[in-house]
Parts: sequence; structure tokens; C-alpha cells
Amino acid sequence: MKLKILVTAGDGIGPEVTAESVAILNEVALLGGHTLEFGQKRIGGVAIVQDGTPLPADTVAAALDSDAVFLGAVGGNEFNSLSPDKRPEAGLLGLRAALGGFANLRPAFAFKELAVNSPLRPEVIDGVDILFVRELLGGAYFGKPREWNKETGVAYNTMIYTREEVARVARIAFQLAQKRRKKLCSVDKANVLEVSQLWRATVVEVAAEFPDVAVEHQYVDAMAMHLMNRPRDFDVVVTENLFGDILTDESGVITGSLGMLPSATVGGKVNLYEPVHGSAPDIAGKGLANPLGAILTGALILRHTGGLEAEAAAIEAAVHKVLEQGFRTPDLARGNAQGLTVLSTTEMGAKVRETIKQLLASSH
Ligand code: NAD
Ligand code: IPM
Ligand code: MN
Repeated sequence: MKLKILVTAGDGIGPEVTAESVAILNEVALLGGHTLEFGQKRIGGVAIVQDGTPLPADTVAAALDSDAVFLGAVGGNEFNSLSPDKRPEAGLLGLRAALGGFANLRPAFAFKELAVNSPLRPEVIDGVDILFVRELLGGAYFGKPREWNKETGVAYNTMIYTREEVARVARIAFQLAQKRRKKLCSVDKANVLEVSQLWRATVVEVAAEFPDVAVEHQYVDAMAMHLMNRPRDFDVVVTENLFGDILTDESGVITGSLGMLPSATVGGKVNLYEPVHGSAPDIAGKGLANPLGAILTGALILRHTGGLEAEAAAIEAAVHKVLEQGFRTPDLARGNAQGLTVLSTTEMGAKVRETIKQLLASSH
């Protein structure tokens, strides 16, 4: 297997966590006789500073010429006063649009090893396994018109969807549900917003194609609560762009830390892989970042683009093993440091790498 992967490490902790993940992918490739070819391009704040734009043309060209794109994170406080179209985040949104993936798969799961580290009680989160399907190319993120008129003191965005945009992401969610526990929850705000009424009506239509999947609809405000009260009840959750952004950060609480969550975006020309977390300026450059979300994102590259299920599963197993042995980054230790060993970003990466070697050596 030969894969060409473009790394856009970006800002803040992006380069720190992607470096650990790439080292592990290289180890896995070496052990399995696969060739992974990594390229690197700038995006976000680092590109604003060096190229004068958050998304240089050669980054887009290289991304389109790859089998997969692996993004770290973008954003930094020094850019906060820029308008949305000039900020580092615009680079990421432009890349998403250029690659065309509209279904952002964000698994949220409880690690039994981390049960004591979640602020939710172990009996609430035990066994949670949710797959969020976040629509990634529509809604308020891309809707026009949009403006902040500083003269009149009026600002607005447009939350817009076409029936086809809803149908295509709903279909992906239903197909994924068919391969899992055959339950789908669609989240909207159809009690207030027309765009959500379209969303719900379209999901109901698409549901007719998937009679074996049980469908429920929840309003987003109630869903925010259900996720904390009874997360085990959910299997696949499909929702629009902004609601999905918010609910998936919230679901980081179930896992124990935002730093644990991976994602894969499918449906376009080239799949885009990114951990759910951001550039975390508060801890950047200090060796405090949890690289496990990025490492698990690496596993998703192998699974969804490489078709290397065994290798992907080995990375996931190695992460479990390292946690089982009591190794934690500071975000996961959460004041429960007794009996745990707190590691830096690079130390955690090295632990997973060592463990992968042992796992794959014993399986060959
Ligand atoms: P954030 O996700 O960067 O951080 C939120 C909190 O979680 C912070 O306290 C941070 O220290 C912690 N955290 C995040 N990832 C962690 C990790 N791997 N290990 C340990 N702790 C971690 O969100 P924010 O602070 O709201 O945003 C910071 C910047 O990141 C902003 O510019 C935002 O736009 C950007 N952002 C980018 C992406 C992306 O590139 N995909 C995603 C989210 C936010
Ligand atoms: C995410 C981030 C991005 C989003 C930002 C940085 C554009 O929060 O990937 O969750 O809102 O999609
Ligand atoms: Mn987000």
C-alpha cells in the first residue's frame, strides 16, 4: 500500500500533535511494509505571517494532489481582531470547501480507562459509543449574504441549506447507522427555524430508503442535555454544521478530554482528517498537548483512505494499552494523578509508538 499524505500542521499545538501522529504512522508503515509519503504545507496563522494569506494556492494544489490531508489546527489570539475572511480559520474553511468533503465523522466514545477522569459519573458514560455526522460545507459557515456593517451597527449571517445538501449527508449517516446499532438521531431547531424544518422534512424523506434504521429527532437545546444525561442511548447523530461543531466539543466531556477526539471528512475529492480540538494557544509550545486525538486521527487515515483496518485497530489498541498502564497527559490526569504517570506530548507519542511496535511484532 502506498499513500501520499499532505500534512498541514498549522498553528499552536497543531505541529506538536501531528508530529507524534506522523511518527506513529511511519512506524506502522515500516512494520507492515507500506509506503507513506508525507508532504507539508502551510495553512492558518503561520501562512498569514509567511505568505500573506491563510490558504496559499500551493497548499490547495498539493492537497488536491494527495490521497489524504492531515490538518493539525489553526488559529491564534494575535489574529482575533481580523475579519472572518482574513483569519486563520478562513484557511481551514477554504480547504474544506476545496476538498469538497461534506460529511465530517466525529466519533465520541468512553474509554473505560478514563472513566475516573471524566466529570461525568462512570455509570453514565460506561460503554458510550456515538458517531456524530456533522454537515461540513453548509449552514451559517458558508451562507450568504453575511456582513458586519460597522456604520449601522448591524451584523447578520445566513443559515442556509438546500434539500440536496441535507439529503446527501443524511444518506451517509443512515448508511453508517446500518453498519452500527441501526439508530439515527437527527438534531435540529425545527421549532423555530425554517432551515431546520427543511432539514427535518428531508431526513424524514431519506429515512424511507432505510427502513431498518430507527430514527428520532431532537431539538439541539434538548440534545445538549440528553448527551450529558443519557449518552449511551445514541448511536449515529446527524446534524448541521454549527450545531455539530458545538455538540462534538461537548461530547469531549464523555471521553475525558477534547484532546482525545479524532475526525474524518468524507464525500469529496480528497478526505480531510483533523482532530476535533483547536490550536490551544493557552498550552502551545509547552509540551502539555494531548497528542492522542491526532494519533487516533492517524488511525482513521489508515482505515478510511488506506483500507488498512488491522493497522488502524492496532493504533487504537495501543492507545488503550497506554491508558490502561496509567499514562496520562495533564488534561487527562485532572487532579487524579495518584497512581498515574503524567507525560509530556512527546513522551506520550513515544509510549504509543513503543506499544505499537510490541503489538505488531507479536501479531506478525
Ligand atoms: P481549543 O480546542 O484550541 O481549546 C479549548 C480548550 O481545550 C483549551 O483549554 C485547550 O488548552 C484545551 N485543549 C484543546 N486541545 C487540547 C489537547 N490536544 N490537549 C490538551 N488540551 C487541549 O479551542 P479554543 O481555545 O476555543 O480555540 C483556540 C483557537 O483554535 C481559536 O483560534 C479557534 O478558532 C481555533 N480552533 C481551530 C480548530 C481547528 O483548526 N480544527 C478547531 C477548534 C478551534
Ligand atoms: C472545528 C473548529 C472549526 C469549525 C473552526 C476553527 C473553523 O471549531 O473544526 O470544530 O468551527 O468548524
Ligand atoms: Mn469546533
